[in-house]
Amino acid sequence: MAILVTGSAGFIGSNFVLDWLAGSDEPVINLDKLTYAGNLENLASLKDNPNHIFVHGDIGDVKLVSELLEKYQPRAVVNFAAESHVDRSIHGPEDFIQTNILGTFHLLEAVRAYWQKLPSPVHGGRIEGITKADFRFLHVSTDEVYGSLTKDEPAFTETHRYEPNSPYSASKASSDHLVRAWHHTYGLPVLTTNCSNNYGPYHFPEKLIPLLIVNALAGKSLPVYGDGQQIRDWLYVKDHCSAIRCVLEKGKLGEVYNVGGWNEKANLDIVHIVCDLLDELRPMGVVSGEVVSGESEVVSGESKIVSGESEVVSGESEVVSGESKIVSGKSEVVSGQTRHFPLSTDHFPLSTDHSPLSTDHSPLSTDHSPLSTYRSLITFVTDRPGHDRRYAIDARKIERELGWKPAETFETGIRKTVQWYLDNQDWVNNVLSGNYRQWVEKQYGK
Ligand code: NAD
Ligand code: DAU
Repeated sequence: MAILVTGSAGFIGSNFVLDWLAGSDEPVINLDKLTYAGNLENLASLKDNPNHIFVHGDIGDVKLVSELLEKYQPRAVVNFAAESHVDRSIHGPEDFIQTNILGTFHLLEAVRAYWQKLPSPVHGGRIEGITKADFRFLHVSTDEVYGSLTKDEPAFTETHRYEPNSPYSASKASSDHLVRAWHHTYGLPVLTTNCSNNYGPYHFPEKLIPLLIVNALAGKSLPVYGDGQQIRDWLYVKDHCSAIRCVLEKGKLGEVYNVGGWNEKANLDIVHIVCDLLDELRPMGVVSGEVVSGESEVVSGESKIVSGESEVVSGESEVVSGESKIVSGKSEVVSGQTRHFPLSTDHFPLSTDHSPLSTDHSPLSTDHSPLSTYRSLITFVTDRPGHDRRYAIDARKIERELGWKPAETFETGIRKTVQWYLDNQDWVNNVLSGNYRQWVEKQYGK
């Protein structure tokens, strides 16, 4: 038997495949388009593993997916493939519609055709290989489809109404509905998981936690959207992977399972925790053996900014303080305040030509602590448009019915995560410089 996993060169998918093959001999067919978020370096340790078969391709390519299904006869498809970054979806929703909605639709159609041809055991008779009854399609989704909670509302249960607020969450909600409909209409044996915010190894540094770590280590500013009091529920990525394995094994067909870490935290608290851990593990001023001084950057998408007399050469986001010039991109100057909106959809690690921008960052730092702590890099920036205030997952159903619960607390998981980034600076540098894309370009010519 084998499983087909889509999007597994990305953050969660690569963790899932690594964990799967660490605990099983069952082969994984890994289908990934290798967008900017797909990084085969995440899977480098599987280079000589014959049970990992990587295929470069799009979930929307029905012909390719059908060929893979016919060839490998997987007993399950686990669908991670998606455009996943909310900020990018605000600036450029089209890729989200294309992959998350149309891609899922085409994947479902290819899978349905395959599943309908699988044999059914008759009168308890034995059949070699995969049967219709054994097959599973597991769709990996998000808590963001449920919308935003006020401070006092109860956490999202599986029956919470869908109220997606961003182009990203609307596209994921659409895909969830398609998956549900393919079960109700065609009987496709589907399972859906809706998970909260993950963090951990191989997390692309456009997302909050890895961005904080990477920027802090480089002495760059730590952008906090709005007042930083938005709340997310955080789950260590390995726990998400174990939940998916559990649902795949024991989940009831057609059911939805919320997955969460029971770790609600305000963004500003996350920033403080990361800063304090770095203060402990890699005190400020020493970065990979070098002393860092004052270059300031706000990154989420392609941007770099500095205070004082400076220029943004390319990119579309901005932080301005003092006299600055934006050559291209959108900007806003507000005296005494930092403005930032992560508008870029370009793939930020590919941009490297910002060299002349270095200045000190002192006007960008907002308040507080002495400069010897990473907290001094915290910078409040313009809020994300339509920013959801609070997510909270009620994960009692998966615990009650399937016996799953997270193994990590936030304290243990975040410590492991920060340590992973400290120990894997080459991975970080290859992502930031865009070097991780070179193999893709060489191999696939783009
Ligand atoms: P990611 O952006 O890190 O990875 C996405 C992967 O999908 C990349 O490898 C990319 O190359 C691939 N991909 C994109 N479009 C594709 C296409 N058309 N065909 C094939 N591959 C394609 O995302 P992630 O954070 O690992 O999230 C994985 C899944 O989990 C997504 O569906 C996301 O919505 C969901 N999710 C993420 C989180 C989170 O906190 N990151 C939480 C809950 C749910
Ligand atoms: O809830 C699950 C979702 O979590 C997943 O479905 C998404 O794929 C995943 O990207 C994540 O979405 P968020 O928008 O919550 O994650 P992000 O890391 O982008 O932001 C986390 C919070 O931090 C959010 O409230 C916005 C804020 N933020 C983010 C960035 C990048 C900042 O304050 N500053 C930043 O620079």
